[in-house]
Amino acid sequence: MAEKRATPLWVDLLWLIFLGGLAVLPPVVELHKQAILIAIGVFQLLEDRVLQLAGETRGRVVVVLAKLVLATLLINHTRDLAISSSYWPIFLLPIMTAAMHFGLLGTLLWTTAASAAYTSFLIPALEQFSLTWQGAGELMIRILFFFLVGMTVNRFVIEYRIQVRRYQLLSQTLAEANSSLQRAQEDARRAERLAALGQLSAGLAHEIRNPLGVIKGSAEILNQKLTSADALARELSGYIYTEVNRVSALVSRFLDFARPSQLDLRPTQVAEVVEKSLKAAAEQGAMDVVKIVREFAPNLPDAMLDEAMCEQAFLNLILNASQAVGVAGGELRISIQPLDHEEAGDNPASEEGPAAIVVEIEDSGPGVPPDMKEQIFNPFVTTKKDGVGLGLAIVAKIFDSHGGSIKLLKGNGPKPGACFQVVIPVGEKALSRQDPSSGEDTRK
Ligand SMILES: Nc1ncnc2c1ncn2[C@@H]1O[C@H](COP(=O)(O)OP(=O)(O)OP(=O)(O)O)[C@@H](O)[C@H]1O
Ligand SMILES: [Mg+2]
Repeated sequence: MAEKRATPLWVDLLWLIFLGGLAVLPPVVELHKQAILIAIGVFQLLEDRVLQLAGETRGRVVVVLAKLVLATLLINHTRDLAISSSYWPIFLLPIMTAAMHFGLLGTLLWTTAASAAYTSFLIPALEQFSLTWQGAGELMIRILFFFLVGMTVNRFVIEYRIQVRRYQLLSQTLAEANSSLQRAQEDARRAERLAALGQLSAGLAHEIRNPLGVIKGSAEILNQKLTSADALARELSGYIYTEVNRVSALVSRFLDFARPSQLDLRPTQVAEVVEKSLKAAAEQGAMDVVKIVREFAPNLPDAMLDEAMCEQAFLNLILNASQAVGVAGGELRISIQPLDHEEAGDNPASEEGPAAIVVEIEDSGPGVPPDMKEQIFNPFVTTKKDGVGLGLAIVAKIFDSHGGSIKLLKGNGPKPGACFQVVIPVGEKALSRQDPSSGEDTRK
């Protein structure tokens, strides 16, 4: 696409005045010369239109060729012996135009064409005169000037084009940066709104909890007081009791998730916490048909943990595993191993002992469906009929607040089951990474 012309009008006027200067110089009364000069002037002013109409590729050939033809005609009409016309620099016009619109090779070719057109005037001259060394030298000087001017202009134009391209890229990068900044701002605003909504729901859940407790207690007493003769009333109050229990459990879990974590950190053996969670799961009858395989490394250091929270977190993972293997039963492998500094990506000599403790909880169930893998740590994501979808969100929040992490490992081998890997930092780094004041879930 031809760009809009940047030349101001007064430059065009100046150009015409210079061209007028050529018109009033000898030979003055040569109508063809004047007509050609007018044609050159008009063509120069309309050059951009020609480029636009004929298209970039064809247009540039047309403008250079037209100027070359006009220049050749002008030389032909300014002296009987055209080769010695003082108007010879007019050839610089097509040469510079070519240098502006073509690459180096194109410029050289067009300059050669202009030189050939000029040199062609030698043929009629040689019929009357013979070429002297001096004359040939003069001709060569003029032709060399053609090439020098063409190449110089072309070099500047190419450098200018490179600069323009650079600025275009820069402005493109800036535009991209700008739009991603706008997106980030929108995300931040959305997150702010969601946080406010979360706070509101947490407050609401908190307020609902107390009346729920009263309803739950009353339903229980009502259930006991009703005579067995009134079967319908007993059934209905039974419904009230179980459903209120469900809502109450939901509210408590939601509050567990929403409440800022106040960690009570103490040096603790991870294996002991896991054993407590296994015991709690067994008390709920979750381990009846599950075979537990323990792979606990000996002599592991204590980790700074909030025992109650971590017990809850491991319990959630164990319950999920038990629910995954279902009533048919299966295997639950729990491994607790050290992670040395090199594997953790730290400076190997930074500290004695492991950098972290890695707990893997793997079951022989069907595994997490591939399309769910990205979402299972988000709150209220569940595939279970009676599930709330807060279990893993709470687990992630607990380990995040301990400076650790949890992820679902890619299934390796033929076993389809899910394998959750928890990393808990130990040693000096653990303390610096933990953020007890934070109640936010840092998981994306
Ligand atoms: N061990 C597992 N095997 C297969 N799928 C799992 C496993 N653990 C979690 N999931 C999937 O992740 C989902 C979310 O788990 P999460 O513990 O957060 O919620 P939930 O168990 O459905 O409900 P609850 O809030 O009662 O725990 C589950 O519904 C299930 O689809
Ligand atoms: Mg769960």
